[in-house]
Amino acid sequence: MTTVFVTGGAGFIGSALVRLLIANSDWRIINIDKLTYAGNLESLAAVADHPRHVFSRSDICDRAALDRLFAEHRPDGVIHLAAESHVDRSIHGPGEFIATNISGTFTLLEAARGYWLGLDDSAKAAFRFQHVSTDEVYGSLGATGLFTETTPYSPNSPYSASKAASDHLVRAWMHTYGLPVLVTNCSNNYGPCQFPEKLIPLMINNALAAKPLPIYGRGDNVRDWLYVDDHAEALRLVFERGVPGETYNIGGGAERTNLQVVDSLCRLLDLQRPRSDGRSYSELKRFVADRPGHDQRYAIDAGKIARELGWVPRESFESGLARTVAWYLANGDWIAHVESGEYQHWLEKNYAERGVA
Ligand code: NAD
Ligand code: TYD
Repeated sequence: MTTVFVTGGAGFIGSALVRLLIANSDWRIINIDKLTYAGNLESLAAVADHPRHVFSRSDICDRAALDRLFAEHRPDGVIHLAAESHVDRSIHGPGEFIATNISGTFTLLEAARGYWLGLDDSAKAAFRFQHVSTDEVYGSLGATGLFTETTPYSPNSPYSASKAASDHLVRAWMHTYGLPVLVTNCSNNYGPCQFPEKLIPLMINNALAAKPLPIYGRGDNVRDWLYVDDHAEALRLVFERGVPGETYNIGGGAERTNLQVVDSLCRLLDLQRPRSDGRSYSELKRFVADRPGHDQRYAIDAGKIARELGWVPRESFESGLARTVAWYLANGDWIAHVESGEYQHWLEKNYAERGVA
């Protein structure tokens, strides 16, 4: 049986990947997550007791813990998602981003390399270290053009700079040491279980609480949106069929301005949860001070992964957004627990019950 480490598997994308792999593969998943504010075991409720899912509350900066996990579980590969992931937080406090995204990736690479060196030749050749990264490493686009795998790196925020640094480390570990690595750079994700600090869940959450919907600047910045399950499928495909040393860009082909996104959300909420006074949620929109250094536009050319691995997203932006709004409306508890901090208490209770260290 294939055994794979998934780091950051209690986060938004990691939990979607773990749910997908438990449902649609026979892999054994060792889920390694420190459970920062962004890690939420409630997102893993569907797989928590599954015999092929093992959760370890561990920090990727902790070399001794990683060495123990490699020795105990002897994985066939690593899919590395653990990171600090929010641009605004990186502007207010970049330190954690340097520690986890750069030093943590370095520590994980070294632990993986130490383990990999002890494998026999065929296991060595089959091993994969897959690094999950962002299109933000490429910087900002003007009105035209798309990011390809050969676009020069030009990160602008502490977050994207830390991810760019980690991408370079991963690439260097193959070039220098021969560790078989893969890198994926993906556009903005949305979907269930996303922490309500990112644009889409924040707007849904605020709208439902009748709070202002804060649109940075003029709302004309463009992001290329991808439904999270499509990203998870792409990650599985790259792990199974990607060529070591290669980078694969992953994107939804769904460019929208932030204002378009917020307007679409308001329309969906008006339909799915009309306000009692009959007025539109769009009345809550407010234009606020812009984010410092705000990248204008991201857009991905996903032609390589389509041609070489046959990946295309299943959800359109319209279908994915409708599903996302429906999920948040149906899962008031998930968001209420995050809002109140209750999910952290749930975690403690859950550790005690499960004996998670
Ligand atoms: P997230 O913030 O929702 O989850 C990150 C997870 O990593 C959390 O569960 C957290 O507890 C864990 N973590 C943080 N520091 C850790 C540490 N030191 N040790 C172990 N675990 C730690 O993030 P996400 O949105 O799911 O993003 C996952 C990955 O995908 C990140 O590497 C991010 O850069 C990348 N990515 C995200 C997007 C997006 O739109 N969200 C797009 C492209 C790429
Ligand atoms: P975000 O979800 O933080 O992702 P990223 O910065 O990684 O692209 O933000 C998406 C876009 O939405 C970005 O252009 C900033 C903007 N934005 C707002 O206008 N208001 C908000 O409250 C947030 C969180 C983001």
